[in-house]
Amino acid sequence: MGSGSDGGGALPLFETKEAKFKNAYRLFLISMFIGICMIWVYRITQILFDDDVEERLVWMLLFLSELWFGFYWVITKSARWNRVYRYAFRDRLSHRYEDKLPRVDIFVCTADPTIEPPMMVINTVLSVMAYNYPTDKLSVYLSDDGGSDLTFYALLEASVFSKHWLPFCKKFNIEPRSPAAYFSTKSNSVVDVEGLSSIKKLYEEMEHRIDTAANLGRIPEEIRTKHKGFSEWVSVTSQRDHQTILQVLIDGRNPNAVDIDGVALPMLVYLSRQKSPNHPHNFKAGAMNALLRVSSKISNGKIILNVDCDMYSNNSESVRDALCFFMDEQKSHDIAFVQFPQSFYNLTKNDIYGSSLSILTEVELPGMDGCGGPLYIGTGCFHRREVLCGKKYGTEFDVEYEDSVLINKVQEGASKLEETAKIVADCTFEEGTQWGKEMGLKYGCAVEDVITGLSIHCRGWKSVYFNPTRKGFLGVAPITLGQTLVQYKRWAEGNLQMLLSRYGPLQSYGVGRIKLGHRMVYCLWCIWAPNWLATLYYSVIPSLYLLKGIPLFPRVSIIPLF
Ligand SMILES: *[C@@H]1O[C@H](CO)[C@@H](O)[C@H](O)[C@H]1NC(C)=O
Ligand SMILES: *[C@@H]1O[C@H](CO)[C@@H](O)[C@H](O)[C@H]1NC(C)=O
Repeated sequence: MGSGSDGGGALPLFETKEAKFKNAYRLFLISMFIGICMIWVYRITQILFDDDVEERLVWMLLFLSELWFGFYWVITKSARWNRVYRYAFRDRLSHRYEDKLPRVDIFVCTADPTIEPPMMVINTVLSVMAYNYPTDKLSVYLSDDGGSDLTFYALLEASVFSKHWLPFCKKFNIEPRSPAAYFSTKSNSVVDVEGLSSIKKLYEEMEHRIDTAANLGRIPEEIRTKHKGFSEWVSVTSQRDHQTILQVLIDGRNPNAVDIDGVALPMLVYLSRQKSPNHPHNFKAGAMNALLRVSSKISNGKIILNVDCDMYSNNSESVRDALCFFMDEQKSHDIAFVQFPQSFYNLTKNDIYGSSLSILTEVELPGMDGCGGPLYIGTGCFHRREVLCGKKYGTEFDVEYEDSVLINKVQEGASKLEETAKIVADCTFEEGTQWGKEMGLKYGCAVEDVITGLSIHCRGWKSVYFNPTRKGFLGVAPITLGQTLVQYKRWAEGNLQMLLSRYGPLQSYGVGRIKLGHRMVYCLWCIWAPNWLATLYYSVIPSLYLLKGIPLFPRVSIIPLF
């Protein structure tokens, strides 16, 4: 403790601990596996010694189902074999690297102003703008695939509100830093901080203006004249066919971009990439790749965080936590990304549909972390930019656009910046390039984030799963049966598509490039959908045979014939 600053240099920035009682658990798994093998042996002897043809067929299919379940069991348990848990020491990070912290670019993606209301989007944006991190090293980009002037307007309002909100957060060190979440937790509390009521009033007025515009379905004329950005929408005819709209709402390099206390603000950029009916837009992967290129022209942060617009930051220290995994002198060199779990703030009381995904977040992802790294789940994830752009582990990589980074050229005004950066968000830009293939997020699969993560692992990198007690990001969970079914269907479909594509963990894609154990865990979600056949057979046939009085399972007293 008292060894002073010098001793700190040797201490690691993060620590990895193995699950408790690991060996006892492994022993238990082995004993279960022996049990499973005995069931198989029992079935085989039944098939061999039964004379009835029909029954033999039933046995046979039952045996196939059991083989499948055994395989499924092995895959699921492979994700539990070697669980590890990570701990970050951000005070050591601050101690050693406070002056050398890298630039961090934060991408927030939204796609539809009706499903994802602008108020929710800007709450997420404000929560990430308020990270406890040097503001000159923080840039926030909103990608609006809905191309909606309402979302743009809300972000404009947020840029003004942030001048009050950021100093308020930092002065009173409040958490969480999403205004909506903060006000909702504080509403019934007697604790008051100075200025709370005035900032709440500002927020409510802003909310009112945005809601009014939303209800009107257009932006009132007097607001339109306030910002040149609105003129972009004059020529926009449809969500699927428009030019690139890029607006720097807060130019963090500009000495005038300060909050009410005179402290610099982070960069804030609105992007709606070009859309054209003649070009595939590749959904969120396309949006992320456009953001990667645009941000490389503007701030070119070394570290990238991407969050969905419904996931606000619940912990203003998450950036520093994540950096501990990227900046450790000994152990960070092969870590490509740090994945936080998807956690939720609106779970119902008993969570009857299991929306909290607790098995995934508490067991399977730590298990995957123990055998090469968790998958990339598309939100709440910190990446190294160069890795996301295609760098192989252990090779040199030319960071494209390196010389054209404009962040340091303050004399180039925001509009010059917009002009230059705009070009790379055009839909023809990717033609004939490696974007979507070797560079950026991969195209052509519903689970583009998972295959992108897999390809990063295949390029020799590891990843880290970080699940702090106080969650880093909170989103909305499906809370009705209908919503849950839609969600699960989407996941099952996406993963099945992955299984059948060339990125399937059973296919040759990962062979020789990642370890067998790691591929097995990747399989886990892919074989979710194919599970249906065996499950259906197993739940229907034995019941029917029970009605006929023929037991398909051994009695307790039967000992298999070896
Ligand atoms: C979110 O952050 C607050 C502190 O601001 C904390 O009390 C709460 O437990 C966090 N929520 C979760 C789910 O971790
Ligand atoms: C929780 O999220 C769902 C969307 O999945 C939404 O319909 C519902 O209103 C939310 N509930 C609360 C309390 O925020």
